[in-house]
Amino acid sequence: MVLLLVLYHSQEYGNTKAMAEAVAEGAQTTGTKITLVNTNENRLDIEQFRQFDVVAFGSPDYYSYIAGGLKVFVDDFYIARKINRQGLEDKPYGLFYSHGGGGSVREPFEKLFRMLRIGPKIGKTVESYGSPNSKVLEECRVLGQQLVENSKK
Ligand SMILES: Cc1cc2nc3c(=O)[nH]c(=O)nc-3n(C[C@H](O)[C@H](O)[C@H](O)COP(=O)(O)O)c2cc1C
Repeated sequence: MVLLLVLYHSQEYGNTKAMAEAVAEGAQTTGTKITLVNTNENRLDIEQFRQFDVVAFGSPDYYSYIAGGLKVFVDDFYIARKINRQGLEDKPYGLFYSHGGGGSVREPFEKLFRMLRIGPKIGKTVESYGSPNSKVLEECRVLGQQLVENSKK
C-alpha cells in the first residue's frame, strides 16, 4: 500500500484545493491510500508525516512566497528532522501552485523544497493562473500518477 499525502493551503477561492483534488484523483489506484490536508484548516502533526511514502505540496502565491500555513509545515519538518531523521527523508514529492497573475512564487517554492531535501522531486511544478482550467487539472492528475509510480513501495 502506497500512502500519499497531499498537503496544501487553500483559503481565498478554493483554487489550490481544486488542484489538490485533481492530484488525488490522478493518484487513485487500488493500492494507494490518499490523505488530503488543507493547512488553512489543520496543522499537520509532523509525527504523522513520517508514515507517508510520497507527498504533493500545494500553495497559493502569497506576496511571491508560499502561504503561511504551508510554511509552518516546513518549519516543523526542519526542527523535527534535527531531533530524529527517521521517516522524514527519501519521500518523492511534487509541487503545484496557483496565483492571481504574478506567480513569482515558483522559484522560492522550488528552492525551499530543494533545501529541505525531503526526497527526489517528481514531475514538473504545476501552475495555475486563478481557477484551474481543464489543462491544469489534467497536469495535476498526471503529477498524482507520477508520484505513485515513483513511490518506493
Ligand atoms: C494575502 C494574499 C496575497 C497574495 N499575493 C499574491 C501575489 O503576490 N502574486 C500573485 O500572483 N497572486 C497573489 N495572490 C492571489 C492568490 O495567489 C490567488 O488568488 C490564488 O489562486 C488563491 O488560491 P486559493 O483560492 O487556493 O486560496 C494573493 C492572495 C492573497 C489572499
